[in-house]
Amino acid sequence: MDQISKQILFSRDEIQKRVREIASQISKDYAGRELVVIGILKGAFIFMADLVRELSVPCKVDFVRVASYGAGSESSGKVVMTKDIETSIKGRDILIVEDIVDSGLTLQYLVNWLKERNPHSLKICVFLDKRKRRKVSFEADYAGFTIDDGFVVGYGLDFDEQFRFFPDVYIIEQ
Ligand code: XMP
Ligand code: MG
Repeated sequence: MDQISKQILFSRDEIQKRVREIASQISKDYAGRELVVIGILKGAFIFMADLVRELSVPCKVDFVRVASYGAGSESSGKVVMTKDIETSIKGRDILIVEDIVDSGLTLQYLVNWLKERNPHSLKICVFLDKRKRRKVSFEADYAGFTIDDGFVVGYGLDFDEQFRFFPDVYIIEQ
C-alpha cells in the first residue's frame, strides 16, 4: 500500500455494528425457516463469515465464483461463472451474499442463473452498494452501506488481489 494513498471509510467497529443490524433484520424476516446462504467468492468471504455468525436462524452455506473484473479496478463488463454451487436449492430460501454491487451486472447474471433452479425465495444481501453506478436496474434487499463512486478495499474487497485481509474498509486513490 506504499504508492497507493488510502483513507479509512468504515472502521471495524462501524462494520461490526452494521453487520449485527442486518443480521437481526434477516433473522426476523426468516424466523422459523432455514436459509441457504450463497456467498460470491472471493470478495464476500469475510462479510459472509461475520453475517452468518450473527444470525439467529439456521443456515447452510455454499459459494459461487464469478469473474467480472480482470486485474486492477476496471470492469470487463462480462460475467463468467467459474464455480457453481454444490447444494440443491429447489424449494429453498436463498440469500445471496455479495461484497459490493456496482453496475449490477454480476448480481443480475447470478440471480437469473439461480432462479432457473426454482428456489422458494431468493433475496440479496450486499455489504456495499454503489447505487449511482448501476447499468441495469437492480435493488439489494439488504445493504450494509451505500457509497459514492471510488474504489474501496479491505474486509474482503481487493485491488488486484491485495488488501482483502484489512479489517477496516478504505477508499484508495492511485
Ligand atoms: P458489478 O459491476 O457487476 O460489480 O455490480 C460487482 C463486482 O465488482 C467488483 N467491485 C469492486 N471490488 N472494490 C473492489 O474491491 C470496489 O470498489 C469495487 N467495485 C466493484 C466486486 O468484485 C464486485 O463483486
Ligand atoms: Mg466480488
